[in-house]
Amino acid sequence: MIRLGVNVDHVATIREARKTVEPDPVAAAVAVEMAGADQVTVHLREDRRHIQNRDVKIIREVVRTALNLEMAATVEMQEIALAIHPDSVTLVPEKREEVTTEGGLDIRNAPPAVSELISNLRNSGIKVCAFLDPDLDQIKQAAHMRFDAVEIHTGSYANANGAKRAEELQKIKDVASAIRHLGMGVHAGHGLDYHNVTAIVGIPEITELNIGHAIISRAVFVGLDRAVRDMLGLMGRL
Ligand code: PXP
Repeated sequence: MIRLGVNVDHVATIREARKTVEPDPVAAAVAVEMAGADQVTVHLREDRRHIQNRDVKIIREVVRTALNLEMAATVEMQEIALAIHPDSVTLVPEKREEVTTEGGLDIRNAPPAVSELISNLRNSGIKVCAFLDPDLDQIKQAAHMRFDAVEIHTGSYANANGAKRAEELQKIKDVASAIRHLGMGVHAGHGLDYHNVTAIVGIPEITELNIGHAIISRAVFVGLDRAVRDMLGLMGRL
């Protein structure tokens, strides 16, 4: 069974476009859970362009499944994570100028502070996941740094067509097997939608998907409940 985490950041993006109080990502978190999602994922960005501290705090209180906090490996974010205590933290790279997370984290030359952050979070009972490109060197480094899981960045697969897509899919399959061999959980996300998710669901090592844009986009037309259930259906969960 593959777990579905729904990223509700885009709901906050609409709210922030007007700097008002709606739509509330807290309501979205409740709705996706009621539709059958296994996890709510939020990215608290340094520039607070969508999700705010208040959102993470309240979502932590209301979520009955699990909360996955995506964040950069900074002192500020570590403090917030230790105070809010999500079930898991996914470390992502962050650039102010990017529209969304572009590429996985580069941990090959990670400073000792990152290993310290991982152990501080793990010692407080938070699972720590690295968002990485499907690159074997990065995966080996993640095992060395004692990450609990790796979320494979599926963006290159999602953006490719034809033979290139098949090539990107093979890379994901190869690293999925390596991640499991190294004893870490295998997650995947970014750019997954109702058309490209099936091939990813067919990779046996993958146990969790985190999907935002496609689900929130479909929700505009069919509602969040139906959009989540449609995705669960493609994942063989209904
Ligand atoms: N996983 C991670 C680590 C991400 O940064 C994002 C985007 O915020 C997602 C999954 C969801 O990507 P998408 O919105 O393309 O489904």
